[in-house]
Amino acid sequence: MAEAATGGNPEHVPDTGDGSNVTISAATPAEVGLRFEVDGEIATITLDRPDKRNAQTFATWSALARIGETLPEQVRVVVVRGEGPSFSAGIDLRMFTPEGVPGQGSFASVAALGDIEFEQRIAEAQEGFLWLRRPEIVSIAAVQGHAIGAGFQLALACDLRVVADDVKFCMKEPALGLVPDLTGTKPLADIVGVPRAIEICLTARTVGAAEAVRLGLAEIAVPPSELDRAVRDLADALLATDRAAAAATKRLLQAAPGRTLEEQAAAERAEQVERIRALFGRG
Ligand code: ACO
Repeated sequence: MAEAATGGNPEHVPDTGDGSNVTISAATPAEVGLRFEVDGEIATITLDRPDKRNAQTFATWSALARIGETLPEQVRVVVVRGEGPSFSAGIDLRMFTPEGVPGQGSFASVAALGDIEFEQRIAEAQEGFLWLRRPEIVSIAAVQGHAIGAGFQLALACDLRVVADDVKFCMKEPALGLVPDLTGTKPLADIVGVPRAIEICLTARTVGAAEAVRLGLAEIAVPPSELDRAVRDLADALLATDRAAAAATKRLLQAAPGRTLEEQAAAERAEQVERIRALFGRG
């Protein structure tokens, strides 16, 4: 059964899963725009500002990071989804205004920070995305409608992407004078290759469902009405494998591109020794 997500607070302050609500700096809950639910081994993070197309703020990223820090141990699959017609229209455009986002400043105010403090702010935002790659979990982005900028990068931060036929991925940052800095450049280049990643980012064009599947950006595309079901089926299939073997296999696969064949063979041996000992009670 679903555990308390937003507790008694319908204003979308995420719950840590242990009953205590996450504290989000000075931001108001409305700017966080997240719901968090745990149902057995599946956790669901829902971007929940559909009226603003799930635009993201620094508070959203802090809340994501806190969810990662406090994820209940039983969770094996994390689903990231968006309420409403769009997965996420990216960073909240109020950041580009002089007033900024209440409690979080604006790009003009962060631009005045020193280099170290400025990069630290970005590193904190990236923490909201990086934990989704942990070997102990498999993260799935369920993406419908627009996934622009930070929205595209949040989908890329997940291990797998299941998309609706109406999906529109767009890396808009370069068109706005920015670089994608929410950890999206590496998975994009790893998945589609550097030349295609350059073309997609530097034209800031839209990638639709059929192309996303063809490029490997999405595992499957389904009609919007079937998105939740498709994600649930994938989650169930992932949960059918042994927990420790799944984590060990994910560790191997994640490290494979950076290793030689010999190094990878050695890593396979080391993981298998542990697995077989565990299976035969000698762990
Ligand atoms: N930040 C803040 N508010 C937003 C954002 C955003 N990124 N995107 C949409 N909204 C708001 C709109 O201002 C509008 O608010 P209002 O009803 O108070 O006027 C509401 O969400 C609905 O937006 P519409 O534009 O009316 O919705 P529509 O479905 O026609 O279009 C679309 C959706 C294409 C996503 C459009 O809203 C858009 O282009 N948004 C901006 C995308 C963008 O440039 N994001 C930044 C990317 S770069 C990065 O993330 C670092």
